[in-house]
Amino acid sequence: MKVCVIGTGYVGLVTGAVFADLGNDVICVDNNKEKVEKLKKGIMPIYEPGLEEMVRHNYEDKRISFTGDLGDAVRKSDVIFIAVGTPPAADGSTDLSFVEAVAKEIAAHIDKYKIIVNKSTVPPGTGEFVRNVIEKNKRHQVDFDVVSNPEFLKEGSAIRDSYNPDRVVIGAPSQNIAMALVELYAPLEAPMLITDVASAEMIKYASNAFLATKISFINAVANICERIGADVGLVAKGMGSDKRIGKEFLMAGLGYGGSCFPKDTLSLIHTSQKFGEDFHILHSVVKTNEERTPRFISRIKETIGSVKGKKFGVLGLAFKPDTDDMRDAKSVEVINELHKEGAKFAVYDPISMDNAKSMIPKDVEYMENASEVAKGADALIIMTEWKEFQGLNLEEIKAAMKRPLILDVRNIYTLDRMERLGFEYVSIGRRPLVSKN
Ligand code: UDX
Repeated sequence: MKVCVIGTGYVGLVTGAVFADLGNDVICVDNNKEKVEKLKKGIMPIYEPGLEEMVRHNYEDKRISFTGDLGDAVRKSDVIFIAVGTPPAADGSTDLSFVEAVAKEIAAHIDKYKIIVNKSTVPPGTGEFVRNVIEKNKRHQVDFDVVSNPEFLKEGSAIRDSYNPDRVVIGAPSQNIAMALVELYAPLEAPMLITDVASAEMIKYASNAFLATKISFINAVANICERIGADVGLVAKGMGSDKRIGKEFLMAGLGYGGSCFPKDTLSLIHTSQKFGEDFHILHSVVKTNEERTPRFISRIKETIGSVKGKKFGVLGLAFKPDTDDMRDAKSVEVINELHKEGAKFAVYDPISMDNAKSMIPKDVEYMENASEVAKGADALIIMTEWKEFQGLNLEEIKAAMKRPLILDVRNIYTLDRMERLGFEYVSIGRRPLVSKN
């Protein structure tokens, strides 16, 4: 099938690469010329395991190409995916200006029947909006249909998720129209759900909001665990063993970050209000999430007193492992807040340090590895659960530190081990191991 994907961000680029890998002719379009030139040379704008190799070999085999010429790509394609950014507006709603601009451009070039697919995360009703924009601006009397096909991939495992989706959701005006996308996804042998457009749009928002709710729920449970000496990891395991609850997304921490959950929860609250409904639960989900970092900062101060002049080592900056994405990363909140109060920082992240530089203070020192970060530190903060931090030589780390205190927001070590090694250890939703002096 001839496919064009507009927007080469996470969703667009991964979608394009996977469709090419499944044997389709894919044209990826972006209005950022530099990005397009780099992609042609095999240089990826983002880090995502397996993506570079997949793009490279499909590019060599001429199944994927990159261009800035949207009109040409539209004319050559049967199915057009819109995968541009949908950032949050100041009032929590979703800024659809990129989607609108692309719809207008499609309208200017559409010359025969095409299916236009919304893959960007957009509020319910956007399918209708895109349809109207194209209808109003099209230059030829041609038919077209707008379909919603939300993306559920997670950063860090985007290729794996795309190849093994729990479900493919296709929201189309009719079964017939949906069949074109069914054909496109058929090689994945994934369960497919065909719905109307509005339901598909709602599935995406409701799913993300529900997952965010799970995270805030377990974080609220973690708060109580800290008070009563319970272990949130065990509680999550016990809860998650009930199939109705499920094990996933019950990991306590500083709350959800990244480019999706924070904006999608706010956007769903906004959409609900727009239609005269108040999504009460989601307000609490967002509030609980916002309270995570201030609570953690208070715990740090309870443990070490004033942070002025104290040196913190930080392991991990990205909002989650296996990505260099720093959007809504909790590390930024923690570092900036403590820095305001006079703390100093040495940090290490396997791949996101370049992206972090513009977001955290200039005097932060960037190190080559965890041992360097630990040198002379009053405390080591584990911010991201990168695998390599689990295998650290903790004896060596302890010897390098000024005070053997680890503040771990991802609970990557067991209390037993930390106790045995003689660390002071403050984690989430578990009793703290702190010397009383
Ligand atoms: C999310 C959705 O999972 C995905 O389906 C959607 O397409 C895009 O948004 P992503 O933002 O890439 O994906 O990461 P995800 O793994 O979902 O994590 C989001 C945030 O929640 C991260 O900050 C992560 O650390 C946090 N999280 C996740 C927890 O705190 N606890 C958990 O148990 C799971």
